[in-house]
Amino acid sequence: MAPLFPISRHPKRIGILTGGGDCPGLNAVIRAVVKSATQKKIQVLGFKDGFLGLVQNSTCPLPLESVSNILTLGGTILGASNKDDPFHMLEKNASGKIQSHDRSPQVLKNLKNHAIEVLVVLGGDGTMTIANHLHQKGVPIIGIPKTIDNDLVGTDLTFGHDTAVQVAAEAIDRLHTTADSHHRIMVIEIMGRYAGWLALRSGLASGGDAILIPEFPYRESKVSQMIQSRYQQGRKSSLVVVAEGAYPQHGKHVIDHLNPLSPEKIRLGGIGRLLAKRLESQTGIEARAVVLGHVVRGGTPTPQDRILATLFGVQAVELISQRQFGVMVTWKNGMLGTIPLSKVGGQTRLVPKTHALIRCVRRLGVSLGV
Ligand code: F6P
Repeated sequence: MAPLFPISRHPKRIGILTGGGDCPGLNAVIRAVVKSATQKKIQVLGFKDGFLGLVQNSTCPLPLESVSNILTLGGTILGASNKDDPFHMLEKNASGKIQSHDRSPQVLKNLKNHAIEVLVVLGGDGTMTIANHLHQKGVPIIGIPKTIDNDLVGTDLTFGHDTAVQVAAEAIDRLHTTADSHHRIMVIEIMGRYAGWLALRSGLASGGDAILIPEFPYRESKVSQMIQSRYQQGRKSSLVVVAEGAYPQHGKHVIDHLNPLSPEKIRLGGIGRLLAKRLESQTGIEARAVVLGHVVRGGTPTPQDRILATLFGVQAVELISQRQFGVMVTWKNGMLGTIPLSKVGGQTRLVPKTHALIRCVRRLGVSLGV
């Protein structure tokens, strides 16, 4: 049987989309893909708002001039969506009931109509799961890992993470002085979903006194003991960096809200406020909670993220020439590589308990709450 998407020796047209939540560096990848594809005389067509654009046939041509001056631009010029899975499009019917529809036949039709030979998909694990399903339907796909959370399996780094660490660390730096002036406990809640990379790196970079991450369910008593002993030693303030996915031993994740229209329905959030109240009542020291939230996801990518994003974008086009599909580009042990899409989706790369950063935190005497 002839393949659904025959790939010519020299592909002429490829598609690109940015799935999941946005993050700094997406535009740097788009630029790298367009620039290196242009070198090979390949045209690039963007699909708007992640997989929604594929379903709704909402496109954006990406000639070379469209990517001028976007290297340093945060967000994505294509728009993003973390709600739309073409295989399970959740749509409200006339009576307001949410129903799931398989819109993948429409996606295949749209790709064919645009003569797209290869699709480059930027996203996190949800996006890679969908990409794998499309690949199984015959679409030649290459994935590029993005997320501030750095929680994708198969790659040591995702672009966006370094920028988020920098923004978070800068915010925590600023909170040191106000915490000190008021002799307070400052609890800083940081995104990261179910992995602690973001809180761990930013907490370490900015001198957090406790760093609480999902990989180590914490004991409140340990955190309050640490704070009390600091005050006994004359330390005026304490900074507790808490990942949004952290939770107490014998407790559970704090959920901010449920999004019924999203494939990933749970949105974490609220642990910071809860913990600040508990620590205040246990220690008698005034506590404040600060939620950094989406601030860490916005703005200009760091040079490291720009470089990683550019490496990934160029490599994706290289893989097209090598006719390697159904894979995600990776950065492992300082080298570019690939991993099959089938091995990425539905998994979370947690911080290993014996990771060098964890050993470092312990040796510094920073509390992990355990
Ligand atoms: O995966 C990136 C991320 O920012 C997580 O850290 C966070 O839990 C989630 O997305 C927030 O999602 P939303 O943008 O839908 O609020």
